[in-house]
Amino acid sequence: MSTVRGQFSSRFGFIMAAAGSAVGLGNVWGFPTQTASNGGAAFVLVCLLLAFLLAYPALMAELIIGRHARANVVTALGSLSTKPLLRFIGQGVGYYGVLIASLILSFYTIVAGWMLSHLGQAISNIVGLEAIAQWLVTDSIARNLSSSVIFAGLTMSIIACGIEGGIEKWSRRLMPLLMILLVLLILYVFTLPGAMQGLKVYLLPDLSQVLNPDLLISALGQAFFSLSLGVGTMLIYGSYVDKNENLPQLGAIVTCVDLAIAFTAGLLIIPAVYVAQHNGTVIFNEAGDLIAGPGLIFQILPSLFSSMGSAGLLVATAFFALMSIAAVTSSISMLEVPVSTAVEKTSLSRLASTLIMGGICLAISSVIIFNFDPLFGFVVDLTTKYSEPLVGIMFCVFAGWVMHRNALLQELKQGNSNIENSLFWKIWPWYVRVVCPLLILATFAQSLS
Ligand code: PHE
Repeated sequence: MSTVRGQFSSRFGFIMAAAGSAVGLGNVWGFPTQTASNGGAAFVLVCLLLAFLLAYPALMAELIIGRHARANVVTALGSLSTKPLLRFIGQGVGYYGVLIASLILSFYTIVAGWMLSHLGQAISNIVGLEAIAQWLVTDSIARNLSSSVIFAGLTMSIIACGIEGGIEKWSRRLMPLLMILLVLLILYVFTLPGAMQGLKVYLLPDLSQVLNPDLLISALGQAFFSLSLGVGTMLIYGSYVDKNENLPQLGAIVTCVDLAIAFTAGLLIIPAVYVAQHNGTVIFNEAGDLIAGPGLIFQILPSLFSSMGSAGLLVATAFFALMSIAAVTSSISMLEVPVSTAVEKTSLSRLASTLIMGGICLAISSVIIFNFDPLFGFVVDLTTKYSEPLVGIMFCVFAGWVMHRNALLQELKQGNSNIENSLFWKIWPWYVRVVCPLLILATFAQSLS
């Protein structure tokens, strides 16, 4: 088959791409609000702990399988054993991962389209196109469809250009820009009245919350999903890493960058919410919790921006540019899962695979847009709540039980000849066999109850 498989050209390129996948809408609106309502810095500490206790070992399972097999998720899982039944199950799990990645992309595209619309609104207002600005932020099927088409087009045009020329090139450009925008926005928000109160809510630890089981479950989920685990994105990115790279080190860097950006996003979002409250916006719901998710991003923050006068237009532009960047560096990693499978399993070219797979996902987005109420929540729950943990367990089981210990060792040795004496090698192989699946299962059971 094809001997010219794509590859990341540098470790920086891989780190930016994998961190780009991990840092997404989930981080920017999920982490800060969960932190604020779950005991502040105490929640951050728990997340940090769980990220390394659960998410990092599971991330390593995906990276190692991917780089070992150097193939798409279906071929990779199907090639770890010589036993026909295990090969069959592996391929089945792979196809399920492809389906879930595509479904996540379908709803993600709709939300990312809203970010683009709000970005378009801020820019239209700056250049005086008020009617267009108004249309862009008024919920309608036409607006949702067109913004989804534009976002899907962006995602597809990056993926069509391949690993180095598409994913790596754009992640290298966009991730530093995201970090710069984040820091600039934080510096600005810190100068506004009310910001310090938000900072206190965010950072003062409420230790009484730390042992609350709900908090543990949220932190576990946050750490796991935020690293894009359980759909094959990290597996496929791992398959493009050079054989000489030290995988445990790369995985640790990606985990740290993801956590650091999630934490930094909180320094922006929570103070901004309290500035909005200072300016007269209601920031709590009837239950007394901080308004989270879409209400936070599309009501509280826009009302803050409009209370800032003309500076607000620039701040809104920067903020929604940041959200759009976070979204696109994640969406490309989702689309790469079905596209790489189509390229390697059929005779289709990369361009044709991108158009077909991207087109199918966009068609699903459209179906969701037309039947938003029952479908959106259903697809989100099906994929993120139920399927990601299950596929995540399977990746751990395949790395821990199906892949030979010797194959694991050889795979890791290429980037670190001293791996046998490392702490990683002493702990990870049994940890991924037993502890990871049990921990994920426990979270999963909790989320069902
Ligand atoms: N990690 C991304 C986020 O935080 C979401 C994601 C999930 C990306 C699964 C890829 C795969 O938004």
